[in-house]
Amino acid sequence: MMSLLLDEVALAAARLAEAGVDSPRTDAELIAASVHRVRRGELHTVPDSAFDARFWADIARRAAREPLQHITGQAHFRYLELEVGPGVFVPRPETEVMTGWAIGRLGEMDVAGPVVADLGTGSGAIALAIAQEMPRARVHAVEADPLARAWAERNITRYVESAHYTAGRVMLHAGDFSESLGELDGTVDLVISNPPYIPVGASVPPEVGEYDPPAALWSGADGLNAIRAVERTARRLLRPGGLVAVEHGAQQGAAVYWVFPEESGWRDTRNNKDLAGRDRFVTAAWTGEGA
Ligand SMILES: C[S@@+](CC[C@H](N)C(=O)[O-])C[C@H]1O[C@@H](n2cnc3c(N)ncnc32)[C@H](O)[C@@H]1O
Repeated sequence: MMSLLLDEVALAAARLAEAGVDSPRTDAELIAASVHRVRRGELHTVPDSAFDARFWADIARRAAREPLQHITGQAHFRYLELEVGPGVFVPRPETEVMTGWAIGRLGEMDVAGPVVADLGTGSGAIALAIAQEMPRARVHAVEADPLARAWAERNITRYVESAHYTAGRVMLHAGDFSESLGELDGTVDLVISNPPYIPVGASVPPEVGEYDPPAALWSGADGLNAIRAVERTARRLLRPGGLVAVEHGAQQGAAVYWVFPEESGWRDTRNNKDLAGRDRFVTAAWTGEGA
């Protein structure tokens, strides 16, 4: 069934395609759904009389390459709806796969209340997803950037207060993860991180370069500075047998594999793929006997 709104969505999709947006039809539909507060599949039910000028204002923002999630104010991550906006990294589907790996391994651990550290939590996406799907876990989320931390705080508070959680199971810590959580040294069951990993000077789309915070993106000439810091921090935090998972760029699989060598006390170091079949995260187990 056609409607005025669906005609507008088709026009808007053409405008977004011209502007170089990757998924123009999807984005136009999601913006329309957000403006009219319906699900995407219910757009045909919006009456013609419900025309809202905000739709075209939001399409203009997207055509200027502002991220969809900043316009709708929401990002979906696994089973979560997170609030996002200026100052925080928009969580990505790639990270959902790594988070799923972590939830699977935590489920197999013979530990009553596994302790998890999420290094560089941003919106709180990984920490909250683990807490939601692994209710026994106690998750420590570390974030250095005060703007990003405010978004994490907002999301954690919203979910904790929604009664699906027991308050306190996601604990937010301010500061550099290299120097944080000293009280947990040698006791953490799983360290997970999606750190900044883009080499300085690399070219990125406008949605990324102009809207994701610089501290979430850039990490030295080879992009591996923060990943090396995650490795050092994981060595300090993990108990023997504990696991680490760290996300990286699609071209960094081989380099990141060697950040976790046997000589440093790691075993079972593995490259893992994202849904598109690209190398996306490295996992390893801590022996407790590293150099
Ligand atoms: C790529 S974003 C990932 C955010 C979130 N984990 C996600 O997957 O959506 C990296 C985050 O790590 C934070 N960060 C970078 N270096 C850090 C450090 N040394 N200590 C604490 N946080 C750090 C950044 O501010 C940013 O919020």
